[in-house]
Amino acid sequence: MTDLQPIPDDWTYAPAPESREIVTLQPRYGHFVGGEWLEPSETYETLAPRDEEPLAVVGQATEEDVDRAVGAARDAFANGWSTLPGSERAKYLFRIARILQERAREFAVLESLNGGKPIKESRDVDLPLAAAHFFYYAGWADKLEYAFPNRQPRAVGVAGQIIPWNFPLLMLSWKIAPALACGNTVVLKPAETTPLTALLFCDVLRQAELPPGVVNIVTGDGRTGAALVEHDGVDKIAFTGSTDVGKAIQRRLAGTGKKLTLELGGKAANVVFDDCALDQAVEGIVNGIYFNQGHVCCAGSRLFVQESIYEPLVEKLKQRLTTLRVGDPLDKNTDVGAINSRMQLEKIEELVASGREEGADIYQPPCRLPEKGYWFAPTVFTNVAQSYRIAQEEIFGPVLSVLTFRTPEEAVEKANNTPYGLSAGVWTEKGSRILWMAQRLRAGVVWANTFNRFDPTSPFGGYKESGFGREGGLHGLEPYLEFDA
Ligand code: NAI
Ligand code: MG
Repeated sequence: MTDLQPIPDDWTYAPAPESREIVTLQPRYGHFVGGEWLEPSETYETLAPRDEEPLAVVGQATEEDVDRAVGAARDAFANGWSTLPGSERAKYLFRIARILQERAREFAVLESLNGGKPIKESRDVDLPLAAAHFFYYAGWADKLEYAFPNRQPRAVGVAGQIIPWNFPLLMLSWKIAPALACGNTVVLKPAETTPLTALLFCDVLRQAELPPGVVNIVTGDGRTGAALVEHDGVDKIAFTGSTDVGKAIQRRLAGTGKKLTLELGGKAANVVFDDCALDQAVEGIVNGIYFNQGHVCCAGSRLFVQESIYEPLVEKLKQRLTTLRVGDPLDKNTDVGAINSRMQLEKIEELVASGREEGADIYQPPCRLPEKGYWFAPTVFTNVAQSYRIAQEEIFGPVLSVLTFRTPEEAVEKANNTPYGLSAGVWTEKGSRILWMAQRLRAGVVWANTFNRFDPTSPFGGYKESGFGREGGLHGLEPYLEFDA
């Protein structure tokens, strides 16, 4: 193995910071209920994870606040939205999509500031995909009868939607676009650490002149989420987050008749065969686990390498890691940004410590982490046994566990040896092998010679403890519809 050195200083680019002046933050935000700002009775401060700078004071919605939001959504549903022709609903969704595109830079800066992700990802992935989801579902709004021929689709009613902090605006779009396309109204709760793009989105709703109460946004932590789940006026819950909370919600809703979709955790296998294009595979592995600091439910966190290429692949991977730039999320050169919260950083540190203790070998490239804020260096564990916690539990950080296999059968058996089943990757030059693997991998999405690729036309969702229900595509309409016939 060659001696790995950091990139010489004189090779590096000068910083290219995006201007944060493009976003104007209010010092304080309320809840967006019935098209108005509701003054919060309880508040907390939301931070920038890159340096813990306080950004704004936001509301911690109480049961009463949630009740008012659900009431506003119910009124809007009854007073016109549910009977509006689909072609009219589509106009609002198209408007929202276009405004998001026009204001993309502003949203991208705020997403990186409040969440910690690199600006090039919020700019090139989160924002274009968020707009694309609204465009895509705008197209379905007046075609529901054709989507489900010989059945009579109608809206469910009020949807309660609870989203995580890893893709705040994108998860909002995944939830709100199909709900509105199908004629539902919405109460959405962003994650407690990343409320700001959802609050800025309320301004987009006003610009689009969406009727008041069709979308309501309440901020707060798990208590607010629980109040939304419990509320009798909610007809459907859509949740994306941890498997533990997902299970608790499922238990709570059992027998209530409320519809439920759960998009939970993952521990995806990325399987690399010895006939793959090695350099492309290394790029895919890096994108699979270090994209968005590894805060990705479908992250390729378990790498399975065919034994015959183990050494060259691991060598190339480590070399590639030395070129990743870790640092300011607002710098356009940054590849790996800040960890979203202190709590998440502590969870990553704890699991990485367990990997060392259980006997895996750790590699981290030389890199200088900023002094303030929440940071974790890109990490690779080799010599990992399937029984180790780092091979079993979702770390949700920039940490890869490398394991090996000899035959395709062994790869399938090891890849499926997990309670999760959200996504998987296969790297090989043979199409027949891709199809053979895809049939056997118990995962909602299987990528071939690529990873972490998304499109609104393609359904996304899990098997087993990764949840149920699909978001995206035609399948993503179904959870927001009832069928009379
Ligand atoms: P979490 O599941 O607690 O939070 C997700 C959302 O659920 C947030 O909006 C939160 O406020 C809300 N929530 C929390 N408790 C709730 C309750 N009892 N009822 C209703 N809503 C509730 O996830 P957390 O604590 O932020 O992260 C813990 C771990 O979960 C992470 O380390 C990661 O492994 C996993 N996670 C997975 C995600 C995924 O997309 N697969 C997303 C977020 C977290
Ligand atoms: Mg939690």
